[in-house]
Amino acid sequence: MKHFNIAIDGPAGAGKSTIAKEVARRLGFVYVDTGAMYRTMALHFIRSGIDPKDEQAVAASCRDVDVSLRYENGVQQVLLGGENVTGLIRTEEVGNMASATSVYKPVREKLVELQQALARRENVVMDGRDIGTCVLPDAPAKIYLTASSAVRAGRRYKELVEKGVECDLAEIERDIIDRDYRDMNRENSPLRQAEDAVLVDSSCMTVEQVIAAILEAAKSRGLEV
Ligand code: DC
Repeated sequence: MKHFNIAIDGPAGAGKSTIAKEVARRLGFVYVDTGAMYRTMALHFIRSGIDPKDEQAVAASCRDVDVSLRYENGVQQVLLGGENVTGLIRTEEVGNMASATSVYKPVREKLVELQQALARRENVVMDGRDIGTCVLPDAPAKIYLTASSAVRAGRRYKELVEKGVECDLAEIERDIIDRDYRDMNRENSPLRQAEDAVLVDSSCMTVEQVIAAILEAAKSRGLEV
């Protein structure tokens, strides 16, 4: 049976995971956070002391690492060699390592295969950077979710402050701009809007408005609810 898959791409901090998770919940689809997979791989590189600039070392090191997903009460868990590392991958250090090492083909090939296998088995809402363009080019519904870098930095700042983390707004925005640049200008599967994706700019939208826009877009592409 062919599944109805929804691809959501966009830059760091656009709110993809919050939105994709809720869209999946409402539709009864499986939510797949592909960024978490790149982060899990990145955690492995950090633990192994790999220099992200050393492409050969990254390629060799990712060959024998086992990244897998499991769902607990519908919530995605990422496993690194069987160890549940879901709680360890949300740091800036891991995010930056993920951005730096996701530029390499061997890393991408390994994770894309896993992502495509999941989408063949289930109806998924999958979010990332290359889902509509590369992982699921035939997905009926594709969304490109973005927001201005100032708005994204503001949201991230608020999140960190709420967690009691000391941080600097200007520095967060600089990090976001650097990360966007790397993600959009890499050679392998750069972040860009697929030609048939619906653009949603969430800068001035509430979470509920963004969810409604995505459900509407999916319906207009044939989703029956
Ligand atoms: O969405 P995130 O911040 O968890 O992603 C971390 C990094 O992983 C991001 O900077 C680029 C990379 N990534 C990717 O290259 N392709 C994806 N489909 C998802 C994430």
